[in-house]
Amino acid sequence: MYYPEEIIEEVRMRNDIVDVISGYVKLQKKGSNYFGLCPFHNEKSPSFSVSPQKQMYYCFGCGAGGNVITFAMEYENYTFSEAVKMLADRAGIKLPEVEYSKEERAKADKRSTLLEINKLAANYFYYQLHQPQGKIGYDYFKRRALSDDIIRRFGLGFANKTSSDLYHYLRSKGYQDDILRDSGLVTIEERGTYDKFWNRVMFPIMDVNNRVIGFGGRVMGDGEPKYLNSPETMVFDKSRSLYGLNYARTSREKYMLACEGYMDVIAMHQAGFTNAVASLGTAFTTQHAMLLKRYTDQVILTYDSDGAGVKAALRAIPILKEVGISTKVLNLKPYKDPDEFIKNLGADAFRERISQAKNSFLFEINVLKRDFALDDPEQKTKFYNAVARKLLEFSEALERDNYTQAVAREHYIPYEDLRRLVNRLGSQLSGMQPKPSSGSYEKREKKKKTEKEDGIRQSQRLLLTWLIERPQLFEKIEGIVGPDDFIEPLYHQVAKMVFEDHAQGNLNPARILNHFINDEEQYKEVAALFNASLKESLNNEEQQKAFSETVLRVRKNSLDYASRNAADIAELQKIIREQAALKTLHVTID
Ligand code: GTP
Ligand code: MN
Repeated sequence: MYYPEEIIEEVRMRNDIVDVISGYVKLQKKGSNYFGLCPFHNEKSPSFSVSPQKQMYYCFGCGAGGNVITFAMEYENYTFSEAVKMLADRAGIKLPEVEYSKEERAKADKRSTLLEINKLAANYFYYQLHQPQGKIGYDYFKRRALSDDIIRRFGLGFANKTSSDLYHYLRSKGYQDDILRDSGLVTIEERGTYDKFWNRVMFPIMDVNNRVIGFGGRVMGDGEPKYLNSPETMVFDKSRSLYGLNYARTSREKYMLACEGYMDVIAMHQAGFTNAVASLGTAFTTQHAMLLKRYTDQVILTYDSDGAGVKAALRAIPILKEVGISTKVLNLKPYKDPDEFIKNLGADAFRERISQAKNSFLFEINVLKRDFALDDPEQKTKFYNAVARKLLEFSEALERDNYTQAVAREHYIPYEDLRRLVNRLGSQLSGMQPKPSSGSYEKREKKKKTEKEDGIRQSQRLLLTWLIERPQLFEKIEGIVGPDDFIEPLYHQVAKMVFEDHAQGNLNPARILNHFINDEEQYKEVAALFNASLKESLNNEEQQKAFSETVLRVRKNSLDYASRNAADIAELQKIIREQAALKTLHVTID
């Protein structure tokens, strides 16, 4: 870790979590907590809670949770030190400058070194584009009708025909082979070292914070492959990056345009459609969809009009739908892609096509239709059945009916007939649904066992949450349950801190979370430990009973565990006595 713990704690304390998160998520006060729609998964009713008392957030839907620092890390995709820096700035805290040797630094923040290298490389390519040796690249962009402005805005460049000049340039800046290899920009082999990109026009790929995370390069002429991308590195994850999103996210349109290629994005931006993005050399993923969902809930697909483009659109539609984005599909015909369309028909015609973009379901039906020869009655019947089956994908009756109407209208199918077909097929299919099988004996036993383990863990979580929310309960369990009764290593570690902090009169869950901040799995689990759902609705007597049961269960489990691991008879006898004593024990809340 870079900064002393006190500094991190100060940064955390001086950034009230409700204040910070309100800047990103609309929150509403409900009891002692705030609630809003979770920014980390798609939902319609709020299960994302922010607690001013605990200074933590927790989503009861997806389990995302943490303190103000992890929020900045998750939401803005910041590293730990970037998050601390942003929050320190926000609170006007001056962070100490820390001097590190080059080696220490490279180790401690390899990510930022890789980002530095990428930035240098991007500048280098940009410079080359404007040199005599880069003229071929510059002319290429001009032939493709790019203005100097747009070349600058997207930082387009050129990788020379020579095979290792970027490598030598980066070495001259003091970077060693190891880190250069990890940047994905050079290939180091026994025979020699080569630039990965040569004789290509270069497209730097930026993240939403305008940092260069990788490159795409298009070959000059007809070489293979036509487009080459940086390999995945510590800073470049293709399935989570969208080309152009750094600009598109600030566009004022309500929707985003998703296309297939670099040139398409750039051509659209140049024509004024600054809300265009592309996934890069990979199929559209759920992570891409979730990334888009942060900025919009409407996407218009402007994929190529060829077979591959249609297939890619059909794949993307359900992925977008799943995260709650509604999708339309734009018709580019008779042109192949947005770049060609705009070049031939111009921005106004493109805007017109945007307004005519087709609802994705109706698009899917259109594609489906191509498989049937509709002048043949048998094929026609099959098509209607296929349509009806597809309509059954809508589980909401009203939505299904709206689509039934729309499809009927568009394909001249009598509405009543189609509706009846859908209903009949629906009842047939639901009758055919396999009954939930009871499974094999081993499976059942295994299930029972994990259920029991879950139950035990849940008791431990409940108890920790209870103690955090009502510290007066520490007294009630004194002598009955202590940190050592939390068996699970992580729970034990946390429980120790909780009890120690309480003993010092300084119990603070968000600070405890700081200790786990470098491990996403861990801080999520710790956040869950402090946010087990207590049923607020229980009356006094029920709460009393629930608390008492939870305490005794945690203690009982700990004794069971100890008895299984007892070293000798004497120890075992002691445990058995304690187990017996537990039966007569009574724990009260007040
Ligand atoms: P040009 O207009 O000929 O430059 O290409 P395009 O923009 O029409 O691209 P095309 O439809 O051929 O490809 C669209 C996108 O797919 C490109 O921007 C690349 O991201 C990706 N792509 C195309 N060819 C390749 C390839 O050979 N390898 C990889 N990895 N990606 C490719
Ligand atoms: Mn093209």
